[in-house]
Amino acid sequence: MDELNVEDEQVHQLIELSAQAQSCTACHLSQIRTKVVFGEGNPKAPLVFVGEGPGQQEDATGRPFVGRAGALLDECLLECRLTRKYVYICNVVKCRACEIENGRARNRAPRPDEIEACFNWLDQQLRLIGPLVIVCLGAPSANTLIHKNFRMLQERGTWFTSSPFARYIMATLHPAYILRQDAEGFASGRAQLIGDIESARKKVAAARKEAPPTLF
Ligand code: URA
Repeated sequence: MDELNVEDEQVHQLIELSAQAQSCTACHLSQIRTKVVFGEGNPKAPLVFVGEGPGQQEDATGRPFVGRAGALLDECLLECRLTRKYVYICNVVKCRACEIENGRARNRAPRPDEIEACFNWLDQQLRLIGPLVIVCLGAPSANTLIHKNFRMLQERGTWFTSSPFARYIMATLHPAYILRQDAEGFASGRAQLIGDIESARKKVAAARKEAPPTLF
């Protein structure tokens, strides 16, 4: 098989995996979801963003980061001259986690058992894409992919090389968290997110120039 065929096969497998995920019943979130939000973007992306989990609009559309947090993410990507065509975007859990409060569904953070039940999808997804760089958006993603005691305040923007899924991995602020801050907090959070995305863009360029990792 030549290199082109190997890549085509990888894209095909990712599409297959997404199709399989649509009927997942590994946890109880499957009972309340509208759509599985597998992820989208460039299947050969050197840069992957991993968020927390779908919200209301993502659940309704089946697409990641399409609400207000997604608009902020798109805006910050653009500041770094990046678009969704270049990157891949997904979440640690593929179904919306919510609870009913006063008769209305309210988003909540996914619980450890839900993250664990969903990890099989994320694991296969990231192995198929094989990015050079991963950026975790928010603590649940960082706790899952970097280390379980990740502290955003102390470790945001720090590069780690311990991931089985990418040569470099870091975590930054979740856009939804930035949206919840007051005007001053919003401005500084947005600037930090842009700075970290820019750092990731540069890391991809630097990693491309490095020698490929050897097996021995
Ligand atoms: N927040 C996330 O973490 N993921 C989405 O897809 C949307 C909002």
